[in-house]
Amino acid sequence: MSQDEDLEKFARELQEQILEQIKKRYSEIVIDHWQNPRNFRKIGNPDGYSKVKGSCGDTMEMFIKMKDETIIECCFQTDGCGTSIACGSLATDIAQNKSFTQALALVSADEILKRFGGLPEADVHCAQLASETLRRALADYLYNKRAPWKKYYRKT
Ligand code: FES
Repeated sequence: MSQDEDLEKFARELQEQILEQIKKRYSEIVIDHWQNPRNFRKIGNPDGYSKVKGSCGDTMEMFIKMKDETIIECCFQTDGCGTSIACGSLATDIAQNKSFTQALALVSADEILKRFGGLPEADVHCAQLASETLRRALADYLYNKRAPWKKYYRKT
């Protein structure tokens, strides 16, 4: 076996070991959202936008497009951990095609934790960050509805 092949084998085995450790702590659905995040992008000129810094110092942004009081597009970006990616992915997925009030009622940290089958205690704040970011984007939408010109002054 060449040195390159040795190195490749080592890297592959290390990756498998890491994934095994992750599987002990997180449900399959968390790992799926983390590895295949849904709605991980920005939207230009969103109807609702928010950027929230979590208790850990990481930030999350959410972008909402509305049509007839229904969320037709909900996306996010984050510089946070893998769990924050999974939480943002699930939160935006839940909000998709929901009315303003449905999304507000549905996307709580408790709901994210329930759908994920729980998270380690140290990661609960990641679900709170996703929920808070979505709620603030919804609040921003309401604010912009009352004063539409103001959305052109915000930084997205
Ligand atoms: Fe900061 Fe998860 S969002 S650790």
